[in-house]
Amino acid sequence: MVAIFDVKKIMLTGFRPTGRLHLGHLHGNIKNMIKNQNDYDNFFFLVDWHALSTEYQNPKNIKTNLLDCVIDLISLGIDPELTHLYRQSDIPEIAELTLYLSVITPLSWLERCPTYKEQIREIKSKDLSTLGFFSYPVLMAADILIVNADIVPVGEDQLPHLEITREIARRFNFLYGNYFKEPAAMLSQATRVPGTDGRKMSKSYDNAIFLSDDFDSIKKKVRSMITDPKRIHLRDPGNPQVCNVFTFYKLYKDSGIEEIENRCKNGQVGCTACKDEIAGLIFDSLKDFQTKRKELENNIGYVYKILEKGKNEVREISKTTILDVRKKMGID
Ligand code: TRP
Repeated sequence: MVAIFDVKKIMLTGFRPTGRLHLGHLHGNIKNMIKNQNDYDNFFFLVDWHALSTEYQNPKNIKTNLLDCVIDLISLGIDPELTHLYRQSDIPEIAELTLYLSVITPLSWLERCPTYKEQIREIKSKDLSTLGFFSYPVLMAADILIVNADIVPVGEDQLPHLEITREIARRFNFLYGNYFKEPAAMLSQATRVPGTDGRKMSKSYDNAIFLSDDFDSIKKKVRSMITDPKRIHLRDPGNPQVCNVFTFYKLYKDSGIEEIENRCKNGQVGCTACKDEIAGLIFDSLKDFQTKRKELENNIGYVYKILEKGKNEVREISKTTILDVRKKMGID
């Protein structure tokens, strides 16, 4: 009896291990994952193959970055007993599924993908005109479909990728008979955390506040943020709606937002005072995390064990998917 009602929906999300985690990751979806850990069957993995698609010219940091991420995630409260924590490259079945999905994915779906176009436009320091980067969404679809996930917590920027996943699943089901679920996106409250320059927070834009930053670096970074450009003197009335720092108040204050808004509009508090207050709030919120992180850094064997456990659990499921897919596609 109980078992039937106990079946939990599958929630899955992946992270690019391009460095230590920053506030954009945390508010983007890690918080959601942690909050929901008890309610779902959770899959949380580090996408080192995706990282390779942009870092292939200089891949030597991917592994260190990946371990850094895993340490970050456990320190934040991802519980390996409740969550399958693993790395993408430990699951060869994902690569095989990518191949099958590539076969049925029209080029036009990938060509029109807005994230693809944006990255090609914004990231000039790398040559991203490769097949691997172009087919990034197909690999992501395989990540998701290999465990037949129900729910994928993502930031707004990943919605086009998720839509492609759903389209691929639909096409597969149409061609070979129903098999894959169409995963739903779960948007976190704060979908877009601005970086210090107002663009989306991202390591590649060099505008991120990292979870492991000390107080001085946080303060320095927050001080460099753009506030209301029209507000020049302290007594000038400010417009919080265009202020980067105000966005952070909304993230870090449960109450008193109106007061903060008003004191800015009335020119009662200067931008530097706001910035220093925010820097303090951010740092305080990270203190426990930073202590745990130090402990884990000194116990890396434990981190490897967790990854091994995740790998074994997820391969079990992935192997079944691959057998089924081969059968459906007639190459079993
Ligand atoms: N593309 C995602 C990002 O850049 C990472 C990712 C890869 C992912 N595979 C995934 C996210 C599967 C959710 C589900 O952030």
